[in-house]
Formats: sequence, C-alpha cells, structure tokens
Amino acid sequence: MLLEVRDLHVEFHTRDGVAKAVNGVSYGVDAGETLAVLGESGSGKSVTAQTIMGILDIPPGRVTAGEILFEGRDLLKLKEEERRKVRGAEMAMIFQDALSSLNPVLTVGAQLAEMFTVHRGMSRKDAHAKAVELMDRVRIPAAKERVRQYPHQFSGGMRQRIMIAMAMALEPKLIIADEPTTALDVTVQAQVMDLLAELQRELHMGLILITHDLGVVADVADKIAVMYAGRIVETAPVHDIYKAPAHPYTRGLLESIPRLDQKGQELYAIKGLPPNLTRIPPGCAFHPRCPMAQDVCRTDVPPLYDVTESDAERGSACHFWRECLHG
Ligand SMILES: Nc1ncnc2c1ncn2[C@@H]1O[C@H](COP(=O)(O)OP(=O)(O)O)[C@@H](O)[C@H]1O
Ligand SMILES: [Mg+2]
Repeated sequence: MLLEVRDLHVEFHTRDGVAKAVNGVSYGVDAGETLAVLGESGSGKSVTAQTIMGILDIPPGRVTAGEILFEGRDLLKLKEEERRKVRGAEMAMIFQDALSSLNPVLTVGAQLAEMFTVHRGMSRKDAHAKAVELMDRVRIPAAKERVRQYPHQFSGGMRQRIMIAMAMALEPKLIIADEPTTALDVTVQAQVMDLLAELQRELHMGLILITHDLGVVADVADKIAVMYAGRIVETAPVHDIYKAPAHPYTRGLLESIPRLDQKGQELYAIKGLPPNLTRIPPGCAFHPRCPMAQDVCRTDVPPLYDVTESDAERGSACHFWRECLHG
C-alpha cells in the first residue's frame, strides 16, 4: 500500500468545547489507484487530508491517535523538515479554490517554474521551458503565451488546470484532490475530472479524491470511503456501492444525486443536518437522521462490519447492513 491511514483521531479545541473532527479513520490507497472520499460538509474529509499532508492547523487542531504510513514510514513521526521534503515532491494537494491557492502577483509561469528552481535546482530558463511543457500537458491552449499571464486572467476551469499542473510538477506518488471541481460549472467539472483521471493513470499515481458529490466519482474512482461525523461508515469498490449501498447514509447520498431523466422532480435529501462535532450523538452518529434506526442504534456504536460478499473487501458501520444491502 502506498498510503495507509490507521485509526486516525484529530480534535479541535474550540470555545464550544472539543470538536472531534476525525474519530478513528482508516483508509488506504495504492499506486495507480483512486480512492474517493465522500460525505456531506463537516464530516472530516478535509481535516483527514490536511493531516496526511502535514498542513493541519496546530493549534487549534491536534492529532490524538493514529498512524499515517507512506511507503511504510509513519509521517506523524517525521520532523517538520523531513515532512516538508515529502510535501510537493512525494505528495501534493489540489484545492477547491485555485484563486486563493495561487499567488495573484506572480505570473502562472513564474509559479510553475519555481517548483523546478526550488526543488530541482534548475536554471530559470530550463524551469520556464518546463512550465510551458506542463501547461501543454494539462491542455491549456497557447501555453507559450499564457505562461506570462496572471491567475486572474484565466477562467475557473483553466485555473484549476494550473493547480493540477503545479501538483504534478514534481511527479509525486500521491495526489490529494479536495473538491477539485466543486467551484466549476458542470461541463467544465467533467473536463477537469477527466484530465485528472488521465494524468493519474499515465503517471501511475495514487489519487485521493475528496468530494461531497457521488455523481462525479462513478467513472474515475476504484473504491469509495463514505465519511460521517469523522468516521468511515462504508467502504467498497465503486461499482458495488452504486449497485447496492450497505449503509443507509450512502443510500441517502445516492438518492440525492440529480438525475437527468428525472428533471423537475424534487431531489430526495437526507433529512436533518450532520451533528455538531462537539456533541456527537451516542450510538450510531447517524441515528437521528436514519430511516432504519432501531433502539440499538441509539446506544451501541456500530463497528465497521465486514460485509464482503464477492472477493473485493467491503465494510459497513451499520447494525442493519444486511437489511440495507438486500432491502
Ligand atoms: N481550523 C479549525 N478550527 C476549528 N475546528 C475546525 C477547523 N477545521 C475543521 N474544524 C472542525 O472539523 C470539522 C470537519 O471539517 P472538515 O474536515 O473541513 O469537513 P469536510 O468533510 O467538509 O471537509 C468541522 O465541522 C469543524 O468542526
Ligand atoms: Mg472539506
């Protein structure tokens, strides 16, 4: 396994109390594999990613338990200086908002070239040529000219391509893309997602694709981890999950995907809101919103049951996974 997160716990000390943002997350991704991490806003997806990248705000954040094995080394045990070497060169992150991640007063070419001068010790001239090459690679038209432009001169979709180019510059082994297309309109979303998937295959990178939208992952992900209130509630190969979810929360997410053939119909939305993480409900955190909840769900935290039925591993943290899967 390229990356393996084991039983990760992260909390935030806030005026409201301790927010338990990540409560025992375990997931992994191999080289050449795409893991999609799904869940509504506030489920701990980004905090998990920031902890992997080593960019968590400490304080108020604090890792209280767990391991993050990258090629077998626990990143949580590295010194900041070693950690910095891993970041960028070995793993890189793509954020939702390219405009705030890029420097507004530097040309995109200068920002791309800097990756090569700083990390690879290239001359400015060679680094500039590399910047143009990268922009070509992410299919930005007229790269030779546009390399001298500033971030605000690009459309949202083109800016996101530049972010992808920056992330890929040093050919990292792992890319974490946190809602990379959420700010884009639907057609551009698909183009950017296709590009990302294509580069990931070509370079045989591991990709963690974070999204709240199950609709965008079907074609690109190999497997899915669904998060709720800082825990993984379901994990499965992508096709299995679309065929039949083994957790009522996943089912709710699936039923919330807008479908072209049902235009005008009201979308099923999961009732209620995700819990305040300083006051996570006892038992299954999803029980107050769950249409299948029974007494046991209000008292007993469900473990991630092994619900494997074919050969690919599958898990569900629902006491009633059988009913969900077959009902
Ligand atoms: N900088 C922060 N300070 C305090 N609490 C935070 C901070 N970042 C995240 N949190 C807490 O962690 C929760 C999960 O956040 P996040 O991982 O960003 O969710 P998402 O699944 O939407 O990416 C938030 O709802 C919040 O309670
Ligand atoms: Mg997020």
